[in-house]
Amino acid sequence: MSLSKKLIVGNWKMHGSRAANAELLKGLLGADLKGSAPRASVAVCVPFPYLGEVVAALQDSVMAVGSQDVSAHAHGAYTGEVSGAMVREFGAVYAIVGHSERRSYHAESDQLVADKAKAALAQGLVPIVCVGETLAERDAGQTDAVVARQLKAVIDTLGVDLARVVVAYEPVWAIGTGKTASPEQAQAVHAFLRAQLVAAQVSAASVPLLYGGSVKPDNAAELFAQPDIDGGLIGGASLKAADFAAIARAA
Ligand code: 13P
Repeated sequence: MSLSKKLIVGNWKMHGSRAANAELLKGLLGADLKGSAPRASVAVCVPFPYLGEVVAALQDSVMAVGSQDVSAHAHGAYTGEVSGAMVREFGAVYAIVGHSERRSYHAESDQLVADKAKAALAQGLVPIVCVGETLAERDAGQTDAVVARQLKAVIDTLGVDLARVVVAYEPVWAIGTGKTASPEQAQAVHAFLRAQLVAAQVSAASVPLLYGGSVKPDNAAELFAQPDIDGGLIGGASLKAADFAAIARAA
């Protein structure tokens, strides 16, 4: 089963500038997403330095703001890290944790990702926990085993708080490649993840399961129509106001 309201989240990654952001936000505000508000919540996850400005620009809109990472620590001598409390203080609501780009380029382990999710929750943020297999893992028939292992660290670390997270399934081979998982492939993994959550005593209706990986205006509706897909985590298409708005409307 899927949740009645979809969640559409843009992940700007390391793109933007103050001028480019202003242009993009103008486009998003002009797209008037209020009409889709009853059916979809919308958020954008932006680079840390822009959090304050983006929150201010979107304060009268239906869009929320998040960060793309957060420290596993609350505070202390962790040079270069940004805590959940800092992100929260700037008005953000969400924090992506465990994006595959961080797992692979920054060697983030399943346990570190789970600790980041825990820290985000403790600091008043909703973690968007990313899981997903590489192409080699899919070809080896390991998709379920990989996402189950990634999710298990979060289940074991959060306990009952698991019900307060968002999970995003992002097959690594579909990110930025233009190769989307077919709606059937995505649905199969989402149903599997839902079953893992239910087995961990989390009500099927409480954790939104987002799909991410080359979601575009022309494939969004079909993906979001799947019974266990509760929305999307959008990379490249979230940098174009018209495309991101069209994806939100598809929900
Ligand atoms: P693309 O939509 O560019 O494939 O990126 C997906 C993603 O990684 C979102 O977090």
